[in-house]
Amino acid sequence: MKQTSHPFSTDHFLHGGDYNPDQWLDRPDILEKDLEYFEKAGINCVSLGIFSWAMLEPEEGHYQFDWMKEIIDRLYSHGVSIDLATPSGARPHWLADAYPEVLRVDENRRRALFGERHNHCYTSPAYRQKVYLINRKLAETFVDHPGVILWHISNEYGGECHCPLCQEQFRAWLKDRYHTIDHLNKCWNTAFWSHICQNFDQIESPSPIGEWEMHGLKLDWKRFVTHQTRDFMRWEIQALRDGGTAKPVTTNFMYDYQGLDYSKFADDLDVISWDNYPTWHKEAEIETAWDCGLQHDQMRSYKGQPFLLMESSPSATNWQPVSKLRKPGMLKLASLQAVAHGSDSVLYFQIRQSRGASEKFHGAVIDHYGGEDSRVFQEVCDLGRTLKQLKEAAGSNTPKQAAILCDTESRWAMKDAMGPRNQGLPDKKTIQGFYSGLRQMGLNVDILDETQSLDGYRLVIAPMLYMFKHGIQEKLRSFTADGGTLVMTFWSGLADEHDLCFLGGTPGGLTDVLGLRFMEIDGLYDWESNTLIPIGRAPASADGVPSSTDGVLSTQQAVISKAASEMPDTFHPQKSYTCHSLCELVYPTTAKTLMAYGSDFYKGYPALTCNSYEKGKAYYLCAAAETAFYQDFLKALVIELFPERPVMEIPYGVEVTTRQNDSREYLFLQNFTRETTAVSPSWHDYECLTGSFSNSLEPYETVVLARNRS
Ligand code: GLA
Ligand code: ZN
Repeated sequence: MKQTSHPFSTDHFLHGGDYNPDQWLDRPDILEKDLEYFEKAGINCVSLGIFSWAMLEPEEGHYQFDWMKEIIDRLYSHGVSIDLATPSGARPHWLADAYPEVLRVDENRRRALFGERHNHCYTSPAYRQKVYLINRKLAETFVDHPGVILWHISNEYGGECHCPLCQEQFRAWLKDRYHTIDHLNKCWNTAFWSHICQNFDQIESPSPIGEWEMHGLKLDWKRFVTHQTRDFMRWEIQALRDGGTAKPVTTNFMYDYQGLDYSKFADDLDVISWDNYPTWHKEAEIETAWDCGLQHDQMRSYKGQPFLLMESSPSATNWQPVSKLRKPGMLKLASLQAVAHGSDSVLYFQIRQSRGASEKFHGAVIDHYGGEDSRVFQEVCDLGRTLKQLKEAAGSNTPKQAAILCDTESRWAMKDAMGPRNQGLPDKKTIQGFYSGLRQMGLNVDILDETQSLDGYRLVIAPMLYMFKHGIQEKLRSFTADGGTLVMTFWSGLADEHDLCFLGGTPGGLTDVLGLRFMEIDGLYDWESNTLIPIGRAPASADGVPSSTDGVLSTQQAVISKAASEMPDTFHPQKSYTCHSLCELVYPTTAKTLMAYGSDFYKGYPALTCNSYEKGKAYYLCAAAETAFYQDFLKALVIELFPERPVMEIPYGVEVTTRQNDSREYLFLQNFTRETTAVSPSWHDYECLTGSFSNSLEPYETVVLARNRS
């Protein structure tokens, strides 16, 4: 992906987080104490001014920056750098009163009252102008300040506005995209239900009281919301640049947020950052760790560069259904997991707990008691020391190994498609299944969209890649032809970028690479399941396949029987696995069947196939499988494709991750179990950056090894 002109780099790990001194200006004693605590905890960076607009511009046009300047000076003189925010995440009252157009209109066309945050119209000229002025002033004021190292653009962009201004922009965006209304009608297939548009002015954003099921419209609306939000963010960045600052910019993303296509923001940002609030201690910790790991990897993959963990709670949150404390050691383990996956920071929300309002009980580095002898503060200090020990690894990259394709537009379209399951679509579960299989083998995983390059990977997985666009077919074809291993699943390649279904056989354009074509897909009730049975053991012929005289089935029978004797070497399924949610029926042409369905009228039909295509292999999984399947299947593939791994046998519950720079490689070993666990790396001549290591990890322990690159 394109590099921007102000790359962000750091020679140490940032440690700190959201800090709100504006809530404590009448308590200089507390602000003084904070500096003392920062030093003790190794806090070297704070995010400032995220929600300070009303303090910075108490009346329209009257700016009051002195307090901020004083704080920045003081922090800087104490070795604390500043990630300075543009304050557009929450607006002052006067702004909404004077310019009601800044207030959002929902899909039912109802305008909001003043209140809450993150709820502005991104189109409103008034909002844009006021944001421009304050951003520019902030940039002018702090342009040369050595303490300001990064700009934090707004906060957690999200949501959508359906006001008349946004409708107008939406129509302009559509005109730009389609040029003629005839073209739009074709792409949206509006002949269906007689919804042909005569002109662009008739078009309204999706609404439950209007057009709600036209998939082309819904998809384009989501694309427009991304476009408009990105345009607003670029506007904010431009204001800073006009104010003279050349410092890098970021904005904080959220967990698996489907309201925006974040990949479209990556080029405008110098570094990706995100806010991570997992709920620990509810299942085996490794399951939660894989869930977080997938997100970390997604964030790193947007730019293929280290990212920043912008927010995390040092103890509990206060907005989840249950606010669970992190057990002793989990703060460090979870924070270092972010680092292992490519973060150059551990930043918290929040540093000092506020006294009132909706986050007064949210976890914080310094709580209402305010003493340094709290468990959480002591754990933060301990982590601060470890981050110093790991200093040399800051800025290092993550070696490319395997990739999972996970495209936001494709997921949007798939969710809206109205197909075999309208509830409980197993896309996230399937992605997580493959991800955990790869992570259990210690592979670094990049999460890519369809625009990104597949160069450098040996294994690419495309789980439920419903929509094919941007020439993904050609990329997957040449990836496989050149010797790559492709794994694709059910419900892939059904529609093009307009969500128009491919004709003549799917996965569109790749049926020869996979050696099969889609026939039908069965949606299973929640209480139903089927099984994937190894073909060698399954009743392979008469008993296994419906004895139909139909040409399709008898051909299939022939293919399955052949497969039993000619199984490719890599994966020899030894047992059956359950599958659920969706079972696809495919017609194999050249693909060999490795596993078949165990029941229902499609008993004996292929459920897992493998096709040799030029120098590579293409697997196709027909159903959503239980976790054990992904673990066993990927174990076989990884052993073949990655014969040298830093830890050959990884105990369940341990995460193995690598980073590297030009001279050194780093191996992170993390124990997410509460048992002492033996781990034997295949590395020799390493140095342990975290203390000592003798092939065993204490409960919740992280060990980081370093060695020189040969
Ligand atoms: C979000 C916001 C923060 C704060 C935290 C609380 O991530 O960005 O301002 O509200 O949640 O967990
Ligand atoms: Zn609007």
